[in-house]
Amino acid sequence: MHHYGNKIIDESRQGEALMLESEGHKKLYIESYGCQMNFSDSEIVASILAGEGYSTTKNPEDADLVLLNTCSIREKAEQTVRNRLSHLQYLKKTKPAVKIGVLGCMAERIKDKLLDEEKLVDLVVGPDAYRDLPELLKEVNDGRKAVNVILSKEETYGDINPVRLGGNGISAFISIMRGCDNMCTFCVVPFTRGRERSRNPQSIIEEAVQLQDAGYKEITLLGQNVDSYLWYGGGLKKDFAKASEIARASAVRFAELLRRVAEAVPGMRIRFSTSNPQDMTEDVLYTIAEYPNICKYIHLPVQSGSSRILKAMNRGHTREQYMELIEKIRSIIPDCGLSHDMIAGFPGETEEDHQDTLSLMEFVKYDFGYMFKYSERPGTYAARHLRDDVPDEVKTRRLNEIIDLQQKHSLYRNQQHLGKTVEVLVEGTSRKSEDHWFGRTTQNTVVVFPKEQAKPGDRVWVTVEYCTSATLLGKLASLSC
Ligand code: 5AD
Ligand code: SF4
Repeated sequence: MHHYGNKIIDESRQGEALMLESEGHKKLYIESYGCQMNFSDSEIVASILAGEGYSTTKNPEDADLVLLNTCSIREKAEQTVRNRLSHLQYLKKTKPAVKIGVLGCMAERIKDKLLDEEKLVDLVVGPDAYRDLPELLKEVNDGRKAVNVILSKEETYGDINPVRLGGNGISAFISIMRGCDNMCTFCVVPFTRGRERSRNPQSIIEEAVQLQDAGYKEITLLGQNVDSYLWYGGGLKKDFAKASEIARASAVRFAELLRRVAEAVPGMRIRFSTSNPQDMTEDVLYTIAEYPNICKYIHLPVQSGSSRILKAMNRGHTREQYMELIEKIRSIIPDCGLSHDMIAGFPGETEEDHQDTLSLMEFVKYDFGYMFKYSERPGTYAARHLRDDVPDEVKTRRLNEIIDLQQKHSLYRNQQHLGKTVEVLVEGTSRKSEDHWFGRTTQNTVVVFPKEQAKPGDRVWVTVEYCTSATLLGKLASLSC
């Protein structure tokens, strides 16, 4: 999912469906929920199934196969999918032969129990098992139910050329690593996406060059924890120490990957997501500062401003260390856009901890943020050992205070652009007005301006005349950058 601007919403990564369309004789309808990684995975699934003669459709009623690529991050995300599954029952009534599959994190978390709980589901496939889809579909088409939720040590889908559908033809995702080893105590991701493994840098660069040749202007390098990228010939990051001396000596880390990509596609904007404060190194910051085509924007989730809560979350850094990192970013990359993820009401969070969160926000004054109420996830350390003891109304009140403060800071950050001329990559027509283009600055701030000669894909200069907390509004200053 693209985060178009600084929309401040609780469940920002859920419920947006991406419908894909392409050519072929059997029809696939695929809907994605959750993070950008899931949207990127759906493009891999579409590619694997294209090899089986499936083309995509935007209409579930035309489909022979309906897939939901699901998210487990919060209970609400799973509920959204459950509701969608109940709604989709009507498809089986009108077309009994249609097959329905659940992919992604919910498939991995709930496994074959999903088949008992959701009677209309024929197929359950976890994030590392998509290559098995052709075999699983054979079983399903023979009238059996099929499940594969095996997590892998190597799978990165590095050789699969994603089907680019549903996008704007200007920006695309490139997946660079999968899984997460950090084991934050609230997070289900290590259970649903397995351990960290990185993709061959050569295949990443080839994909970037292909996108450039196809006219794309922006890529986002994706991973659950991009700063932890480590290529030493394949395999889990945690097995790095066991690799040969030659493999270890020639290992490629994130800063080096960024540098290689920036040099391979100098005409493209490069973004990346998500960074983890405990894994972000200084050389990454110097690389961002050095290459004009790497966007000056870092999404740097913190989750809490209290060192005590950060410890209980197993975040691997204190409030002070995070503040030092922010200062380092500000000194190495002046004007860097910054955003955060924040959780309100983690077990044991006191009013004082909450005040620490607000004061950390005051210190950073983020450009935008994604803010959530704590949601207990079965199987996590927090669910097993910590009582979800902050009452819901307290969580809601704290979340609202966080959201209000973020809105104030977003407005403050946007106001700093007033009167200035900023570089914008035009992405398309504004969602609010047919007569306006919308695009983003290097800091990821949304800019809207009247349609003139510029067209989607152009990089233009826009003079900012007015702003809200979500958007800069301006007029075209010059056509080329
Ligand atoms: N409850 C609430 N929010 C969560 N996140 C992850 N797990 C939970 C949870 N159990 C949030 C974090 C993370 C973002 C993707 O979702 O802020 O950075
Ligand atoms: Fe949701 Fe996390 Fe899975 Fe992404 S990795 S789909 S955010 S649970």
